[in-house]
Amino acid sequence: MTPKWAGRCETCGAWNSIAEEASAPAAAGAARGAGKGRKLEFVALSGEAEPPARAATGIAELDRVLGGGLVGGSAVLLGGDPGIGKSTLLLQAAASLAESGRRAIYISGEESIEQVRLRARRLGLATAPLELAAAINLRDIAASLEAARDAAFVVIDSIQTMWLDTLEAAPGSVSQVRASAFELIRLAKSQGFAVVLVGHVTKEGSIAGPRVLEHMVDAVLYFEGDRGHQFRILRGVKNRFGATDEIGVFEMTEAGLAEVANPSALFLAERRGNVSGSAVFAGVEGTRPVLVEIQCLLATNAGGSPRRATVGWESSRLSMLLAVLESRCGLRLAGSDVYLNVAGGLRIGEPAADLAVAAAIVSAVADQPTDAGCVYFGEVGLSGEVRQVAQAEARLKEAQKLGFSAACLPRRVARGNRQAAAPEGLALAEIGHLGDLVARFLARAGKVSA
Ligand code: TYD
Ligand code: MG
Repeated sequence: MTPKWAGRCETCGAWNSIAEEASAPAAAGAARGAGKGRKLEFVALSGEAEPPARAATGIAELDRVLGGGLVGGSAVLLGGDPGIGKSTLLLQAAASLAESGRRAIYISGEESIEQVRLRARRLGLATAPLELAAAINLRDIAASLEAARDAAFVVIDSIQTMWLDTLEAAPGSVSQVRASAFELIRLAKSQGFAVVLVGHVTKEGSIAGPRVLEHMVDAVLYFEGDRGHQFRILRGVKNRFGATDEIGVFEMTEAGLAEVANPSALFLAERRGNVSGSAVFAGVEGTRPVLVEIQCLLATNAGGSPRRATVGWESSRLSMLLAVLESRCGLRLAGSDVYLNVAGGLRIGEPAADLAVAAAIVSAVADQPTDAGCVYFGEVGLSGEVRQVAQAEARLKEAQKLGFSAACLPRRVARGNRQAAAPEGLALAEIGHLGDLVARFLARAGKVSA
């Protein structure tokens, strides 16, 4: 908070991120002088601690990301680009809960009753005993929720449309979003229902209402994906009741969001073996191994500085790898434009993808396909050394499960008896330095042209 106008946020350094806001009545100030505070009862750390009661939505991919289902009295923020499928997912979840006999309420501030009904019909959910309202006035909504004592699940779609008539600001402004969310979260806690707030993401990538909401809720989930692809990834970025970094994978179909139980098979479905510039990365998202194809295309640079473009991966990481390949492994790439793509629309954040990306690049340079039955993982350091990554076993097991026959991985240092055992039928090729990988491809390229 800043008392005067400022162009740049002192805390995070972002420009134009500060919004004006009228100060709230000084409630704390009023309490001051009204006598001493109540003395708190301190308790011991040991003692009764029940795991929170959860209601499974019946959509396994959603429940997984939530950490096993919705926790009563908790607040979840579901963020994502407009049109990505947030309303569809929540309508399906709410209908599923309602079908299972729990009271579920869906409040739409964006779409009319007719629009929601049409969608429900399209999803085959029109008969679910879900309670629906189109409203934006929070006073009405609060009164209705207070009366709905046995509600288990409430969807607010979206928090940006909610409007408290006691504030002058327009719906969608920071103060409206914050005050509305505060009121809804308070209601959820006092009534014991789980509330999901839908939040649109701005172009800059933050949930509108400069991230204020993220601090207020118990869990933050992002729904992401490429509109050009049918895959949708639900990602937990904060969760007070479960692990974060879990993902749920969905496919947007004619009949709504379908769960994808085996993402690797889906991401690899359109892979064509025997083309150069493609390598399979054995990744891990949360606790789940996911195999994806990394594609690299080299094009002759037409003059000017060479282009480096990535989809689904960090471009600074690509620049680093290219520099390592040039300086440490003797590859010449300065005259080429490099395009890198993670097939299927997945976004990878793991450094463990380095080795797979390098394999795709080297394969493109040598014009030699990688072994179609091989997966790659390992982090690459600046001197070209290939470093250990977490969860090697899980990655290898997934590769074996999907019928791969080999894995290219960091040289393993035996630490006590923590050496990962190779799953049966999987040949392991350990790589200590990126140069070894380059040498393999170049040797193969030489053999073919000779
Ligand atoms: P929606 O849930 O309205 O997105 P959000 O609430 O995040 O803005 O999803 C809208 C898109 O999903 C729309 O472009 C159409 C598509 N869609 C399908 O492909 N199949 C379906 O069954 C439904 C309901 C929507
Ligand atoms: Mg919507």
